[in-house]
Amino acid sequence: MRRLGIGLIGFGWLGQAHSRSMLRIRTLFGEREFDPVLVACSDAVPAKVEEAVRDFGYARGATDWHEVVDAPDVDVVVIAAPNALHLEMIEAAAAAGKHVFCEKPVGASPEETVRAHSAARDVITGVGYNYRWAPLIRYAAGLIRDGELGELTNYRGRFFSMYGSDPLGVLSWRFQEGLGVTSDLLSHAVDLAHMLAGPIARVVGTTATFIPERPLGNGSHYGRGRPGDPRGPVVNEDYAAMLVEFENGARGSFEASRTMIGPESQMAFDVHGTRGALGWNLERLNELQLYRVTDDPGSGYTTVFGGERFPHHGRFAPGSANGIGYEDLVTIEDYEFCASVASGRPHTPSFADAVRWVAVQSALLQSARTGRWEEVAPL
Ligand SMILES: NC(=O)c1ccc[n+]([C@@H]2O[C@H](COP(=O)([O-])OP(=O)(O)OC[C@H]3O[C@@H](n4cnc5c(N)ncnc54)[C@H](O)[C@@H]3O)[C@@H](O)[C@H]2O)c1
Repeated sequence: MRRLGIGLIGFGWLGQAHSRSMLRIRTLFGEREFDPVLVACSDAVPAKVEEAVRDFGYARGATDWHEVVDAPDVDVVVIAAPNALHLEMIEAAAAAGKHVFCEKPVGASPEETVRAHSAARDVITGVGYNYRWAPLIRYAAGLIRDGELGELTNYRGRFFSMYGSDPLGVLSWRFQEGLGVTSDLLSHAVDLAHMLAGPIARVVGTTATFIPERPLGNGSHYGRGRPGDPRGPVVNEDYAAMLVEFENGARGSFEASRTMIGPESQMAFDVHGTRGALGWNLERLNELQLYRVTDDPGSGYTTVFGGERFPHHGRFAPGSANGIGYEDLVTIEDYEFCASVASGRPHTPSFADAVRWVAVQSALLQSARTGRWEEVAPL
């Protein structure tokens, strides 16, 4: 059993989810060839460092993240810090020879993602596009790959979250640095489309910022200020939408919002082909809508429930329709990344996939400025 020393930077929402996931791998993946060991954790907030050591069992903690990337007993650095810090952390970790898993979108801008990719060429990289790992999405990808939907004709992707819908939501780092909802939410929707429907050739799009100021405060993006609090400007987009043409000729549309009222965490897609269609929505993670063209007059969309017959589901719950949850996807993601590292093989999704998304993002942002269709140029 190979020991894999894990060093984690940024012990917030996702940092804690990855830490719990690494701890759960032993109990869920009996056939593994590695044991993740929580070696070092860094966060800028001392109380979080203490929590990481006390409650999660990290051997060491530090407020200076360099102590994680420089540690000889760390093999894998997991980066779950705010986006604007990703690049310097990746450069330092890769220079120290560590394999790097970075949360999406890998950097605060398309340029930074490209630089991160080239800095980490000699190590194994992974990126936190966790929805790829949903068991029913793996099944959906298999159906598409096997031609069960025929030729793909249409794709609709969306990610609507309400985390910013309250104007009293505090001005956390998500509203103050780099790009907004295109990096935070639309990246997931397009990454999934890349996996399911292939590359995007051209786009025409628009962006908007609906809530231009927010209360100052140190909370996460779910934190709330008070009506009289001092305010600061939101520097990036709350909303983005685009029409696209895929390289395979299919047409599609994408939308993402963090301020729209109604859908609470609707990371969803519908894909249509000449012989069938599929639909999935994170709000109903354990259900896949499947339509197959048949001669049966009673045909239509059917609901396929998650169950142990789909990849990895049975590790968390046996049988059928005994649901799994959001953090289980992170656990699958961490297992798969560690398995790639332990066997020395390239991993997917990698920083190359992060670059594929930012090429689309660049075209979208260019189109929002020019008002015209823009080609997706490789970066
Ligand atoms: N894959 C997903 O579904 C998903 C979901 C949420 C967030 N994310 C990504 O995860 C990353 C973190 O997001 P989050 O929601 O967990 O944010 P968060 O604000 O909850 O956590 C970020 C943590 O980083 C710490 N930090 C800030 N500066 C630091 C520094 N210099 N050194 C060490 N730690 C520092 C903060 O104190 C905080 O604890 C982002 O890149 C985000 O895009 C991915």
